[in-house]
Amino acid sequence: MTHTWKDDYSARIMKSAALPSAELVRGEGAYVWDSEGKRYLDFLGGIAVLSLGHAHPVLVAAVSEQIATLAHVSNYFATPPQLELAERLCRITGAGEQGRVYFCNSGAEAIEAAIKLSRRTGRPRILALNNSFHGRTMGSLSLTGKPALREPFEPLLPNVEHIESTVEALEAAMGPDVAALFVEPIKGEAGVIDLPDGYLEAAREITARHGALLILDEIQTGAGRTGAWFAFHKTGIEPDAIALAKGIGGGLPIGALVTFGAASDLLVAGQHGSTYGGNPLVTAAANAVLGEIERAGLVENAERRGNEIRAALVGLPLVEEVRGQGLLIGVGLSKPVAAAVVTSAAAEGLIVNAPNDTSIRLAPPLIIGDSEVAEFITTFTKALEANA
Ligand SMILES: Cc1ncc(COP(=O)(O)O)c(C=O)c1O
Repeated sequence: MTHTWKDDYSARIMKSAALPSAELVRGEGAYVWDSEGKRYLDFLGGIAVLSLGHAHPVLVAAVSEQIATLAHVSNYFATPPQLELAERLCRITGAGEQGRVYFCNSGAEAIEAAIKLSRRTGRPRILALNNSFHGRTMGSLSLTGKPALREPFEPLLPNVEHIESTVEALEAAMGPDVAALFVEPIKGEAGVIDLPDGYLEAAREITARHGALLILDEIQTGAGRTGAWFAFHKTGIEPDAIALAKGIGGGLPIGALVTFGAASDLLVAGQHGSTYGGNPLVTAAANAVLGEIERAGLVENAERRGNEIRAALVGLPLVEEVRGQGLLIGVGLSKPVAAAVVTSAAAEGLIVNAPNDTSIRLAPPLIIGDSEVAEFITTFTKALEANA
């Protein structure tokens, strides 16, 4: 038998990851190619990361120029791309003049920063939602609402409580000892599950009434993906902080915590930091990504293409429910065949993902147009038919 990449993967990559389905070698726009030359339409986008798709010329130029100029300096020094990105994030989030930004390298680290922010309230308890996902580091895992992920690593952070995503459950759990409520505006890893209508508005009112922080995990929903710059913009509320990563970097590892209003004063000098956080290379990349999203109208495109896809999905074989907003879409299946649908889709040259047995998640690049939408519908329909 010939030696393949699968042998190398099995022999050398930590067993914490399952064997991948393909080895990818190149990407362009919404397409990737594997090491056997097969082309795929990428409707997962590196799990809601590739806002501009693969190898976008604007991102390639920005990263190439920055790495040839100044790639890294440590947090003992400021750089122009870092300051430009902080300014941009305060503007597009709406945090404005009162806003502050902490830079790190991943979503989990943005959540860690938010946990430390919560601790600075002096209150012990943290609330998070059942079935939520906030990351895999010990702090972010403590908040993640999936017992099967948490239990192998206990003991985790104390005083974290998981509650149902209902206003009643929040009212019952809330008290003067609660530091913060952490919420994903749409639960991506759970299968793209929307919050009940009015939940975020109620959560804002209840947390404010009790003096607790409302911290939104916009790691998967942010950067235009839901058809708004940030999912909370569709509600009109102002959170105390939002955790960002994934789509803001378009493939480069970056995370950020953006604080609003008085929460901006909670962390003081020396209380948090990261060697790479906010380095000029990744912040130049994020400036290019967010600048291009703005220039090309990709927030609006996410809303428009999302609506087109949603409308086309309704009534297809196996499709019981269509969830999510913009280009973060969950397809609820009538049978637990999501893994088989993913395999059939891959055979047809389409990448989608199954967060659980009955859900398919779509998070394509925000740049998709008529031809990608049409190709997706054709290939995805075949994958559904093969398993109906
Ligand atoms: C909502 C949410 N929060 C946090 C994370 C963790 O981000 P990272 O994998 O960059 O640490 C993810 C990643 O999937 C996520 O979807």
